[in-house]
Amino acid sequence: MTLHSADAATAEEALARQEALDSDSATQVAMQNTLLTPRFYTTDFDELDAIDVTPVRAEWDPLIAEMQADPNRGHFKKNEDWDHVDWDGMDPDLRKEFIDFLISSCTAEFSGCVLYKEMKRRGSNKDITQLFQLMARDEARHAGFINDALREAGVAVNLGFLTQKKKYTYFRPKFIYYATYLSEKIGYARYITIFRHLERHPEHRFHPIFKWFREWCNDEFRHGEAFALLMRTDPKLTSGVNVLWIKFFLTAVYATMYVRDHQRPAFHAALGVDPDWYAQAVYTKTSELSKQVFPITLDIDHPRWETGLKRLQRANADLARAKQQQGLGARVARLTASLRAASAFIGLLTIPSNRHRLPATTRLEPVY
Ligand SMILES: [Fe+2]
Ligand SMILES: [Fe+2]
Repeated sequence: MTLHSADAATAEEALARQEALDSDSATQVAMQNTLLTPRFYTTDFDELDAIDVTPVRAEWDPLIAEMQADPNRGHFKKNEDWDHVDWDGMDPDLRKEFIDFLISSCTAEFSGCVLYKEMKRRGSNKDITQLFQLMARDEARHAGFINDALREAGVAVNLGFLTQKKKYTYFRPKFIYYATYLSEKIGYARYITIFRHLERHPEHRFHPIFKWFREWCNDEFRHGEAFALLMRTDPKLTSGVNVLWIKFFLTAVYATMYVRDHQRPAFHAALGVDPDWYAQAVYTKTSELSKQVFPITLDIDHPRWETGLKRLQRANADLARAKQQQGLGARVARLTASLRAASAFIGLLTIPSNRHRLPATTRLEPVY
């Protein structure tokens, strides 16, 4: 029995086991930093370390106990359910988009791992370091498992190289809470929506990794719960001017997902998923969940919502095309596309949001 990241008890162990296997052809893609590619983050770790979870202790301890019980230990590795993947016979457009999807997902998972691991390393608050160690463990397994899938296609992301060389973006702790909470919950919603869809339409399951999505998204769900509790320790984080920041992050996260997914038409066609339907299904779930901690949700049924997303997506597609070209015409095209994208985004931000009261308790169960 060889050692595998799925069985590792800590992030460090999981990464060492992955690195022993690695090459780096996909690493350049993972290194890219654009508005749409997953980033690496750093923050004020001392401020994070100073959080006192006493006000949410009654909900905190059971969550930590659940994570310590480690229901997914050993889950993230190939077994007899892992069907053979015919990478060479795959439609070239699908292959390209799917690899791009895997690399981007691996980078996003690993970005969480790096941030959580660093918090664990720098902190001295037992509650905080314990939580971040557990979350880093999960994300290391997730990233490692995606890399296992990529290796079969002859590519893999060199995670050690990425840790050292990828640019880190600084976010104040409160922005880390909003962004990370949302990415965990939207991650849950994305994985479970695909999983349920493929349960109904197994003929569209063109790769075995989707079979792992249910347990996978439960990890993300728990991570989201942890950030919800962290935010509930300080009511200021979700009131006053911070509500505007929450709206900004909700809009940015939803819009990024929309634009990114629409760049992968062959991938969604293979899954039998209409990306517009998928986006709305994911937003609906994420909005419902985020009511546990955010006092507003975006009005995703507003007449300007979908048209705004479409405008943004078209502007981004034009921008990407113009970036491939040289000369004055291309520069003008880049500028106008950027302005159109900015105006579409502002249009989305100005849609009035829905307000509601926060519940007395925070914790939710993954019910989708
Ligand atoms: Fe993850
Ligand atoms: Fe996560």
